[in-house]
Parts: sequence; structure tokens; C-alpha cells
Amino acid sequence: MTAQWPVGLGPVICIVGARPNFMKMAPILRAFAAHSPAIPALLVHTGQHYDKDMNDRLFEDLRLPQPDINLGVGSGSHAVQTAEVMRRFEPVVDEKKPSCVLVVGDVNSTLACTLVAVKKGVPVVHVEAGLRSYDRRMPEEINRVLTDQIADRLYTTERSAAANLAREGIAADRISFVGNVMIDSLLSNRALARAPAATVSAFAADPALLAGEAGYGVVTLHRPSNVDDADVLASLLGVLRELADSLPLVFAMHPRTRGNIERFALSALLDTPRIIVLPPQGYLEMLGLMAEARIVLTDSGGLQEETTALGIPCLTLRENTERPITVDQGTNTMVGTDIDAIRRHALATLAGLGKRGRVPELWDGHAAERIAADLAGWLLARQQAAH
Ligand code: UD1
Repeated sequence: MTAQWPVGLGPVICIVGARPNFMKMAPILRAFAAHSPAIPALLVHTGQHYDKDMNDRLFEDLRLPQPDINLGVGSGSHAVQTAEVMRRFEPVVDEKKPSCVLVVGDVNSTLACTLVAVKKGVPVVHVEAGLRSYDRRMPEEINRVLTDQIADRLYTTERSAAANLAREGIAADRISFVGNVMIDSLLSNRALARAPAATVSAFAADPALLAGEAGYGVVTLHRPSNVDDADVLASLLGVLRELADSLPLVFAMHPRTRGNIERFALSALLDTPRIIVLPPQGYLEMLGLMAEARIVLTDSGGLQEETTALGIPCLTLRENTERPITVDQGTNTMVGTDIDAIRRHALATLAGLGKRGRVPELWDGHAAERIAADLAGWLLARQQAAH
């Protein structure tokens, strides 16, 4: 007989809001369905990201079910976005009576839903807990610190996270080291990745550019600290332009970055056939582009981890990282916005001196199964303790 989810224990409300949440949630939902008993889940999308490029294509690629509920909040200032998610999520919690709310990552939707649930006495589970950049100018750092402080069960991707949490007074028995769900997605989709030539051809760019002896590099930039200031953005685009002489670049451009390049009139800096500018790419396109790249230059959190798992050298254009294992064990080098350092490390990588690394502990494709097993046991134990 198939085991049944206990009567009286509500569904797990799973929250996604922005692009980096989707690849984390897809394996979790699959593991919940495969668990015995199946863990009932309701997928709630806050609507923080909504464009076809930022949203729909990722849902298709990752085989994510359509959300049960979409709160449709859209863009806004941090205050407006956070408040709007809270206002619209509260009635969902009242109606659905979840056993817990599961949040991933560090976007505004993560914190907003956490606040709503905790204040209603509904336990919160945070996947990718305990990462710290120790840079409180980053909105994500505020979201991480506050979410972890009030969440009930914390799942971590690397061992350094437990020490960060201990420093903030969080008891060890709330924390479980399970590995990295983002790498679950990467491993299960690796064979489906789209060929880079097909990806660029779809945008009328010449695939022959990628097939040259030098290979090609991949670029993404979207952090406010890199793209919201005209001088910083201009100097980063300048060094990319310079690197493009040695290595053709594929630049998958976030809407925030595209908007700012237009606003600051910087488009001329990218006006060379050796930089292929694409809109935000689907998951399978990005995976294909990264897997065959000579180098990735990025300020994304997720790409630091994905390049480490793929063994591709990554230069991170930030001063700090909340994912130190990608530097200590993986292929990641922090270069900040120091133009000389970017140039030096990029050229060294092209000369064959790029960083080699190893795949971190428990980045093995089974993190979501470990979460499902632990969470089911934890929820049952709580239910029994309550009676
Ligand atoms: C958010 C996350 C960031 C994550 C990033 C991935 C926070 C604080 N930040 O930043 O951690 O790395 O997502 O993309 O939650 N826009 C569109 N279409 C969309 C979504 C956004 O055009 O579908 C534009 C809008 O102009 C919007 C801007 O991008 O104002 C920024 O979007 P927002 O969700 O506020 O933050 P991101 O920069 O995407």
C-alpha cells in the first residue's frame, strides 16, 4: 500500500519569485512528488519576474509545473515590491493552511513570504541558508540574514554556512547540510543543454565566431553595484570590449543592464561583431553556453556555483562572495571591478592558466531528495509533538 500524507498536515507552500529561484525549486518539487508518502506542494509565484525571457522559458526548460497561484506583483522599489508580496500572500496562507512555507535563495520574495508566514505561526523552511557576503549594501544580504534569523528549518549548501549561522546565534539543531539543489538541476539537465551555435544563430549572430581556435567567453552582469552607476558600467563594458579582441564574447543581458546601457548612452561600447549581445537566455541555452566556454565573467551568484560544477574558470566581478567554496575548492576567482585584475586574470585564463577546481561535497544531484526526507520527518515529528 502506498503511504499517505497524514490527515491534518497541510501542503507545503513553495515560493518562487525571480529567475534564480526556478532552478532551485524544480528538483525540490520533483523530490516531493517522488517521496513516499508524496509531500503535497502548492507552488506560489509572486510575479517578481514576469517577462517571457526571465520567466516562461525557464519554466519550460526546467519542466516546472505552472504555479497554482500567481500573485502578479511585478517590479517596484524594494519597499513596494516587498510590501506588495506580503499583502497578496497573506490571504493565501489563511486559505490554504499550509504545514510550512518553503522559500529558496535571497530575493525580495524570499523575505516577504517568510515574514508573512512566521507572523502567522506557520513554520518556514529556507533552502540555501547561511550564505553570507558580509556586505550589507547588497539587498540579498539583508534578505538572507533576516530570513535565516526567523526561519525554523535551514538547509545549507556548503559547510561554511553553519559557522555563519552560529555566529548569528542560530541553534545547530535548526540546520541541516544537504548540498546544492541548483546543482541537482544542472546535473539532471546537462544532457539536454542546447548547443551554443544554435543559441546564437537563433538571434541572427554568426556561430562561426564561437568555433574559432580561441573559443569564446560568456558574460552576465546585473548587480546594481555594477550596472546602476554610469562610470562603473562604462569601465566594465570598456574592459569587455578590450577582451573581445582576444576572445569573442556572448553577453546574455539582463533587462536592468540593458535599460541602464540605453539610459547612460553606452551602447557604442558594445558595438563590435566580436560581442554577441543576447536577451536573457533560457536555462538550457545558458547551460550549453557555459559548459563549452573558455571563461565566464559574471556577477551572478548562481553562475559562480554552476561554473564550479562544470569545471569552467569563472571571474566574478564583485568584491565579495557569499559562496566561498567556489573560490576555495572551485574554479571561481574574485576580481571585483578592478579593470587591471579583470584583464590580467582573463588573459592568464586564455593562456591556459585558468583556475582548476573540484566539485564540492554533496553537490551530487541528490540535495532535493535529502530535503524531502528530512522535511517529511520534521513535519511529522512536529505534528506528533503537538498532540
Ligand atoms: C533580482 C534579485 C537578485 C537576482 C536577480 C536575478 C532581489 C533583491 N534581487 O534582481 O538577487 O540575482 O533578480 O535576475 O530580489 N525586469 C524586467 N522584467 C522582469 C523582471 C525585471 O524587465 O521580468 C526589470 C525591471 O525594470 C525591474 C528590474 O528589471 O525594475 C529589476 O528587477 P527586480 O526584480 O527588482 O530585481 P533584479 O535586478 O532582477
